[in-house]
Amino acid sequence: MALKDRINDLLGQVNQMKAANADELEALRIKYLSKKGEITALFNDFRTVAPEEKRELGQLLNQLRQQAENRINEMREQFAEKAAEADKLDLTRTPDPIELGTRHPLSLVKEEIIDIFSRIGFTVAEGPEVEDDKHVYGMLNFAPEHPARDMQDTFFVEKEIGIQKPTDILLRSHTSSVQTRVMTSQKPPIRVLCPGRVYRNEAISARAHCFFHQVEGLYIDKNVSYADLREALLYFSKEMFGPETKIRLRPSYFPFTEPSAEMDISCDLCGGKGCSFCKGTGWVEILGCGMVDPNVLEACGIDSKVYSGFAFGMGVERITNLKYRVKDLRLFSENDVRFLRQFESC
Ligand code: DAH
Repeated sequence: MALKDRINDLLGQVNQMKAANADELEALRIKYLSKKGEITALFNDFRTVAPEEKRELGQLLNQLRQQAENRINEMREQFAEKAAEADKLDLTRTPDPIELGTRHPLSLVKEEIIDIFSRIGFTVAEGPEVEDDKHVYGMLNFAPEHPARDMQDTFFVEKEIGIQKPTDILLRSHTSSVQTRVMTSQKPPIRVLCPGRVYRNEAISARAHCFFHQVEGLYIDKNVSYADLREALLYFSKEMFGPETKIRLRPSYFPFTEPSAEMDISCDLCGGKGCSFCKGTGWVEILGCGMVDPNVLEACGIDSKVYSGFAFGMGVERITNLKYRVKDLRLFSENDVRFLRQFESC
């Protein structure tokens, strides 16, 4: 092949040169530009070229060598830049932490209540939040015009297609409604815990909300006594608030229990001496309870001559306030992460 053609051929190759890394690049340099390289070889042959061709071929050859050098230098710089970039990456740096969500304080406390009672044989039962009057009031011994219905400040569902008496449907105002569902569908012995959300028509403030959470308990068997109720609640209080906790039962009234009581625990802030939290009494109220009224048992198809039972109901927000001193109820439903993150380690 004539020298000119060989030069053009190599020019084509030089323009196509590609290297994936510094080693490949060095191999290319050796192939074309080293002492034994192909371009260097052409320079040796150039010596024998006829004088009239020397000028043209000399220029071409110089151009070829220049081009090969430029291309190789260019690629060398690119590899150097890449290497410098890689050096900038600090592979020992710890990665940005993954943000973990937190469990809601109400869920934490609800789970703890369930856990404590599950150790003495209670299982969880659930019922609907949109309920009928019968399950929320009627079967629980509330007389039709009973002021307690009003007292509960119920949200009634006014329009519902296909429902004859619209005001029979309501948002449950207490989880005692689940009692009636369980008693009509299960046979004693019954030992259930009914956690859930309840609704009352209250103006929202730091101390009241139109929805909140309750855990209801129900135990029905032969020979269940008031002493059993007291023991179960004492056990719960000590587990929840510490072994020093004392309880006291004050007579009260609920249509579905007879006798009825409200239960206080000794104030764990002042140890019962009296402080601003317990309003100087040394006691704080935490739940309502009582022996299931025979009328309720009968309304649910349970023979009240054979069976007796106790029931209790507590507000999860109230227990959470006692445990974590949350002063404003609204914090529970605002989803403010600054509040929620405080329960990260709980
Ligand atoms: N249902 C009551 C309320 O919402 C709480 C309650 C009191 C539940 C006494 C009970 C009970 O089961 O025995 O205020």
